[in-house]
Amino acid sequence: MSHSPAAFPTARLRRTRQSNAIRGLVREHTLTVDDLIWPVFVRDGEGVEEPIPSMPGVVRRSVDKIVEAAREAADLGIPAICLFPYTDPSLKTEDCAEAWNPDNLSNRAIRAVKEAVPEIAIMTDVALDPYNINGHDGYVRDGEIINDETVEALVKMALAQAEAGADIIGPSDMMDGRIGAIRTALEAHGHSRVMILSYAAKYASAFYGPFRDAVGASGALKGDKKTYQMDPGNTDEALRLVCRDLDEGADMVMVKPGMPYLDICRRVKDEFGVPTFAYQVSGEYAMIMGAAQNGWIDGDKAMVESLLGFKRAGCDGILTYFAPAVARKLAGE
Ligand code: PBG
Repeated sequence: MSHSPAAFPTARLRRTRQSNAIRGLVREHTLTVDDLIWPVFVRDGEGVEEPIPSMPGVVRRSVDKIVEAAREAADLGIPAICLFPYTDPSLKTEDCAEAWNPDNLSNRAIRAVKEAVPEIAIMTDVALDPYNINGHDGYVRDGEIINDETVEALVKMALAQAEAGADIIGPSDMMDGRIGAIRTALEAHGHSRVMILSYAAKYASAFYGPFRDAVGASGALKGDKKTYQMDPGNTDEALRLVCRDLDEGADMVMVKPGMPYLDICRRVKDEFGVPTFAYQVSGEYAMIMGAAQNGWIDGDKAMVESLLGFKRAGCDGILTYFAPAVARKLAGE
């Protein structure tokens, strides 16, 4: 502590809490629209907005509706959206080839948004789970997740996204060596401008449940993801992963989930001083919305407070399903 408080009544710490004006003056951290990345779910069809029951207020959108949503987000000042595809079960295979189809749902959405809303940055997801017949982020052989062959597939997937116009590649798969392999491939194919936001410290979490419903992976997933996603008891390992991903060419790093892992956000920011993001995941969103819908908490206030917590923990930005709602609130609407 740089200054220990004088004794009462010389020091009355309530003095600086006495009014809105004074509280604003001494506030250390604020949330702004610049801090937001909005994850959105893409599905096929036209003019479709399909609700996701476990994520009240969140929908899967057809590409035309994704373009409308991107327009709306850009108009609100949201800097980036992140696309997640809901893939038709008939396109899920053992080899996950749909993942690098230049015309898959996600790549079509990238092109459409780039064309119509060039000012918004587009982030993608790199992992095999939306395309994998068994719901895992990597190839499965004899019950094991195969690392190196998965990385080759992820490279093809990331290149197809970069070709389509993605600005930020988001590897969420937690295989070893994928950041280096993707960075090398991007450089070799003229995509030196394309950024990588690595899901560096991603934990094997119960809070992803609603997301797996949203992308249609819940039913397919056999077993758990504990051999590739992190053990929730670990902190030092998160720093090793972040260090490794930065060395391999990540421009930005992420901690995921968010609220149960704010200590990790703080350690990463302090240790590395790099652009640090948190993902307020589907289960965190669902908890706040569920309690709010029951009248148990004030949803709007809980939304803002939960997001401010990430700023206090050292994050530069947050992936959050609340992005448009909080942007509207910050704009005073
Ligand atoms: C999968 C992926 C997941 C999320 C983003 N990418 C789920 C998982 O690892 O099973 C979770 C996002 C959320 O819960 O909001 N590659």
